[in-house]
Amino acid sequence: MTQESMEEKTIVITGATSGIGRALALGLGRAGTNLVLVGRNERVGQRLVRQIRSHSSASRAGFFCADLSNLKDVRSLASELKERYKRVEILINNAGARFNHFEETSDGIERTFATNHLGHFLLTTLLFDHLLEARAARIITVGSGAHFGVSGTPSWSLTRATYDRKIAYGLSKLANIIFAYELARRLTGTSVTSNAVDPGGVATNLGRNNGWIPWLRHLAFYALKGQLITARQAAGHIVFLALAEELKGVTGHYFFERKPVMSSRLSQDIAIARELWSMSVKLTGIDASLGKSWEYVQPQDGP
Ligand SMILES: NC(=O)c1ccc[n+]([C@@H]2O[C@H](COP(=O)([O-])OP(=O)(O)OC[C@H]3O[C@@H](n4cnc5c(N)ncnc54)[C@H](OP(=O)(O)O)[C@@H]3O)[C@@H](O)[C@H]2O)c1
Repeated sequence: MTQESMEEKTIVITGATSGIGRALALGLGRAGTNLVLVGRNERVGQRLVRQIRSHSSASRAGFFCADLSNLKDVRSLASELKERYKRVEILINNAGARFNHFEETSDGIERTFATNHLGHFLLTTLLFDHLLEARAARIITVGSGAHFGVSGTPSWSLTRATYDRKIAYGLSKLANIIFAYELARRLTGTSVTSNAVDPGGVATNLGRNNGWIPWLRHLAFYALKGQLITARQAAGHIVFLALAEELKGVTGHYFFERKPVMSSRLSQDIAIARELWSMSVKLTGIDASLGKSWEYVQPQDGP
């Protein structure tokens, strides 16, 4: 990829203020491009923008503050991006969190599902026309091996009574992968591809909001297996998915360390995908007012 063609690309990264997202921003910033960094900490975000600009004069980086668990915030973010940029070439749905205890968002949705899945569902669908506008666009959604922990028919909306931290996180990551596959099916024949990725066990701040012990337990789990990698290593694999020429047109896969791998049986279930999609449309309130791209988004509940 030439420097010139890189600079033309608009790349949106959610969760850019920490861990894998931050490493992605620094990696892609060094390559020289038009970076759109999304996070909810303005101070950290602006510091990152300054850092990227000081590394590479070719980079145009901007920080956009939004809480992805808040649907109103996501709508405002999408409007701002659509106004500011003509098209989006790469969208990396990376932001994520885990919560030890049940929490509900101001929209009345369980917080893990709202942050990891619904926020990205809404952002992606609102940006559809901008993705379709690009000569070739790639959507990459960060899943996790934790999705293998979900069995039986998924019950997406956990309640205070049914809440289990592992199940909640696993469900949200299963939703990420199903979403990536369903996008790929819906966008067949367009210039937009959609894939999911398992970054592996990565030393980041994931889970630190729950206290030191659960966070260290998570790191120790991978470290003891000799599988803990740095955020920079994980980001390197995702940068490959975002830019590699050899992945042009490749869609509907789940990647681990740059290779397509099998995800769980549940993640490949079309009926479950349709149900999750319809539910996501309903919960986000997205409808025909979306315009032209509604044709790709509208639920397909029939046989
Ligand atoms: N680390 C691992 O071992 C691992 C394994 C498999 C999958 N993953 C996935 O990798 C992705 C990146 O996580 P990470 O490991 O890099 O963790 P991290 O260091 O905690 O970074 C997560 C990023 O997401 C942002 N974020 C969280 N909630 C948000 C919200 N409501 N609105 C906007 N931004 C929000 C965080 O912002 P704040 O800093 O403000 O919280 C941060 O920038 C996640 O999707 C995670 O599920 C990680």
